[in-house]
Amino acid sequence: MDLNPIETCYRRLKAAGREPIKLTVGNPSLQGIHFPAELLIKAYSRSALNTPYDPDPKGMLSAREAIVDLYQLQGLSLSPQQILLTSGTSEAFFYLFSLLGQVGDNFLVPYPSYPLFEHIAQYARVRLKPYHLRESLGWSWNLDEMAAQVDENTRGIVVISPHNPTGKVWSRDEWRQLAEFGAAHDLPIISDEVFADFCFDPTRFARGMTHSETICFTLNGISKSLALPGHKLGWIIVTGPEAKQEKYLNQLELMADTFLTCNQPVQLALPTLLAESRSFRQEYYHEVVQRRATTLNRLKEIPQLNLVPPQGGFYLMAAYDDPQGRSEDEWVIALMESEGISVYPGYFFDHPSGNHLVMSFLTDPKQMQPALDSLAKFLGS
Ligand SMILES: Cc1ncc(COP(=O)(O)O)c(C=O)c1O
Repeated sequence: MDLNPIETCYRRLKAAGREPIKLTVGNPSLQGIHFPAELLIKAYSRSALNTPYDPDPKGMLSAREAIVDLYQLQGLSLSPQQILLTSGTSEAFFYLFSLLGQVGDNFLVPYPSYPLFEHIAQYARVRLKPYHLRESLGWSWNLDEMAAQVDENTRGIVVISPHNPTGKVWSRDEWRQLAEFGAAHDLPIISDEVFADFCFDPTRFARGMTHSETICFTLNGISKSLALPGHKLGWIIVTGPEAKQEKYLNQLELMADTFLTCNQPVQLALPTLLAESRSFRQEYYHEVVQRRATTLNRLKEIPQLNLVPPQGGFYLMAAYDDPQGRSEDEWVIALMESEGISVYPGYFFDHPSGNHLVMSFLTDPKQMQPALDSLAKFLGS
């Protein structure tokens, strides 16, 4: 496997006994956030009874009903028929790119963006076309630019809100405009909401699925929301015009039936995991809010950094000055060698211009505090 220069440097330092601290890990289970063990034992106790395996390609009804209940608490009325379980959101993207696109078709995707999409698109033999998020617009899009990207092979629009890595959360107005745009161009929307529980102004959060004129595939799962990435459970919710909804749900069901990837123990556990984790989720949310605030307060003191504060999610993207004019790779490697901390360069996320670093403010505060002091020193502040 070819390694990029940053990973090569990381491994070299590690082998030399100077393992850098990664400020890039948004996996909560590696950042000291743990779902309560006693609740896990309780939730999985039904699986221990060795329940007969009689798979439903859309996922067990009890698990889908538990998801309906979850959204009901947020004022959204869904039917279990609109839900299909997957073994994670990444798999859901693969299903949807494969379902909606033929070889060579394309999907509009925000740039900067979560790098995995490019790989998933390659496996599904489709292409990604960027719509750029503008830092000067608080990481919002420009719908005219988006319209210019649509061609006869465009098959859908991907939205991530809260967005990784900028932390942008799309407002009600922005969603309304996008839903109209999707309906006008007959383009389904794929809305990745894996960070939905982590909006720092919860009143701002809006979603595609409330717009009935457009087909919207809403993706979420328990890897971020319950800090259980290893349990591999995600879901797709299909909303919008009913005839199309049904067509897509039937096709997705057929795809899921081919592989039946979603393991039974986690499906049996899901109702308890969701229904009884309310207080954990509140604590988890407050912990993330706290970590974000501490990180932003320190970053604000570094004049060489310029940052649109993340409105949600676990990541931030900051612009930096580098009087030496190094490439992003050179700068990130110099930071790692000199200070022993590792961040991502903006170009990893297909950000086309300027110098940017990406980090996760979920990083354990014990590591984050000294790391941010080192970053400030490196930047000359
Ligand atoms: C924006 C976004 N979507 C999807 C995923 C993957 O989620 P899952 O673990 O459910 O595959 C991630 C993981 O970091 C992510 O950042």
